[in-house]
Amino acid sequence: MASKFTKLLEPLTIGPLTLRNRVAMAALTRSRSVPTNVPNDINLEYYVQRARGGAGLITTEGTLICQQGTEWQNAPGIWNQDQVSAWKRITDAVHAEGGVIFNQIWHLGRASHPDAPEQKASGMPVYAPSDIAARGGKFRFLPGHPGYVTPVAIEDPRILIDLYKQAAINAKEAGFDGVELHGANGYLVHQFLDSTSNKRTDAYGGSIENRARFGLEILKELVSIWGSKRVAVRLSPAGGYNDMGMPLQENIDTFRYFISQADLLDLGYISLIRHIPAMDPEFDGNHRATKHDVLKTYRPCIKKSALLLNGDLTPEEANQLIVAKEIDAAVFGTLWIGHPDLAKRIEQDIPLDTKLDLKTLYGGGAQIPYEQQKKGYTDYPAARL
Ligand SMILES: Cc1cc2nc3c(=O)[nH]c(=O)nc-3n(C[C@H](O)[C@H](O)[C@H](O)COP(=O)(O)O)c2cc1C
Repeated sequence: MASKFTKLLEPLTIGPLTLRNRVAMAALTRSRSVPTNVPNDINLEYYVQRARGGAGLITTEGTLICQQGTEWQNAPGIWNQDQVSAWKRITDAVHAEGGVIFNQIWHLGRASHPDAPEQKASGMPVYAPSDIAARGGKFRFLPGHPGYVTPVAIEDPRILIDLYKQAAINAKEAGFDGVELHGANGYLVHQFLDSTSNKRTDAYGGSIENRARFGLEILKELVSIWGSKRVAVRLSPAGGYNDMGMPLQENIDTFRYFISQADLLDLGYISLIRHIPAMDPEFDGNHRATKHDVLKTYRPCIKKSALLLNGDLTPEEANQLIVAKEIDAAVFGTLWIGHPDLAKRIEQDIPLDTKLDLKTLYGGGAQIPYEQQKKGYTDYPAARL
């Protein structure tokens, strides 16, 4: 039977890479690299299931570029050799299934906690562009479930940029097809971009050009390691998560500049998250995000890189947007959690009817026995084809 989603299922060429379809899997933190931060056998199984399920592009969950105390316990890293070797097993297995896999590289900035065991072990304070705390956060594994703290302002941003560069070198050794810079959802790159979290007076703060400098310098380093088409960036210009959002015109001008400059680097893709309620928290009775039409506002800034869109997309809408040449590929998040064979289901018109178990979205820490970590992770069934 011919699928009604013809365009969504068409291959996409990105430089040297061919994606077998345009059904991409979003970065999804699942907190299951127990007992520490090294990818394990259940992580391997999870990614293989989704490669077997036809994903055109898999982006890994946010992967830490150095040891940090994240709210999401047992997030994996890419800063040491054990992690590199463990990821290599995963990339080999994904490639054996015909998949393409990018590593999403992540630094949390002020969204870490100094009392989190991993942060303590790192011997580093919680760093951010400026000493301004984010509202929100909930470190459930710490007494009293504290939120975010006032961070220490980074003295020399180049030291952080070098950490991203080293992570990109490590990701190459780990056999990935490319790297996606996590510039979204209020983490470090986003904290530099946003004038409410960046009050620096040096070359990395103040004007739009200065606030954009940190992310753009990272992208240039990543390109020097990987070549341009194997580098990507993810952005959430209309996301309020982790206390982000500027006045509308400043927000638009900032992201138009950043996206245009990133596009000049001829990246593999620029992945945009549009406004979705789940990423728009309320503080003091007000929604935080700067709500606007992400696709319409930034589409004209992207001329060389592929444009990927995410945020409450259905296969129907994604297909229409590709037909209309508005986007090149669609990124699905939660749909991939419950449907390990999402792309195959779309191909064969099988209903996307799995109900997500919200309690098992995140692994719940190393205290949960290994076998139980599979629940809500690798036990969502594929459809019988
Ligand atoms: C459990 C979970 C974990 C997530 N982890 C990440 C992450 O590590 N990196 C990231 O950029 N976005 C992350 N996100 C956001 C998703 O990638 C995506 O933007 C969001 O789910 C919206 O897409 P959807 O409407 O298709 O689900 C996460 C979302 C969920 C639900």
